[in-house]
Amino acid sequence: MRTVESVEELREHVATWRACRERVALVPTMGNLHAGHLALVKHASDRADRVVVSIFVNPTQFGPEEDYGRYPRTLDADLAALDGSACDLAFVPEVKTLYPFGPEQAVAIHVPGISGILEGERRPGHFDGVSTVVTRLFQMAQPDLAAFGEKDYQQLQVIRHLIRDLAMPVEIDGVPTVREADGLALSSRNQYLTPEERRAAPELYHALCDLAARVEAGGRDFRKMESSAVARLEKAGFRPEYVAVRRADLGEPGPGDRALRVLAAARLGRARLIDNVAAAG
Ligand code: PAJ
Repeated sequence: MRTVESVEELREHVATWRACRERVALVPTMGNLHAGHLALVKHASDRADRVVVSIFVNPTQFGPEEDYGRYPRTLDADLAALDGSACDLAFVPEVKTLYPFGPEQAVAIHVPGISGILEGERRPGHFDGVSTVVTRLFQMAQPDLAAFGEKDYQQLQVIRHLIRDLAMPVEIDGVPTVREADGLALSSRNQYLTPEERRAAPELYHALCDLAARVEAGGRDFRKMESSAVARLEKAGFRPEYVAVRRADLGEPGPGDRALRVLAAARLGRARLIDNVAAAG
């Protein structure tokens, strides 16, 4: 596996592959790689001939009070993990490569509507930062395909909207969430949990699964079911920010909607955890 830092080197590799008619996939990450990220790499290599993984902790998607400064940066371990995977090229740019005029002077991309609800309501500007960096990474790598995790379900929907609206020639694949044996979704932020909080953390997934089961059994009083999940999480020591039953496209569900998604965000100690599951209403 090769590692490059500049757009020129990245493009050189991609151009060589393209000349051989190889399909190129991109897996954007912020590093601190775990089995969830590696499942995206595996998926990408099943769907394309070459896999590029970008590692970049993107400053524009963190709010001023968020964890940009302390976000875990583990480049050596990440490159070692990628070396043992199907990744062909690691793209590890510096901030000035992604943002030549600096993050404050960056041309920003805003996806209206969906960027302002759920996560976007609690993390103002977050999805503008995601849309802005993903657009740049796509411009730089020019992939045929990009893989994103369902773990960040709303992010996946924002990217799909972005691609469609700007007619970007990139296929977007969603990959199922990889979980610990007890159900907790793998996340770089799980390491902010104390051992006691870590024991309580799977309750988030279990509350979502129970809510989804009630929806699947025909439950239609979504507000009531959301409130009882919030109460359950509070009892388990979480500070829930939202529990929401939505359509698969994240619109407000009506009684006739069948493809639904149950999403939640909750703080537990220093960590802010998010998760979601499907519910076939
Ligand atoms: P990051 O949190 O590093 O995640 C990179 C990709 O891995 C995302 O598509 C995310 O949904 C996926 N992922 C994370 N945990 C997962 C899990 N347990 N199972 C499956 N997939 C998982 O998401 C970002 O970075 C950034 O916002 C980024 C898209 C790179 C833009 O900066």
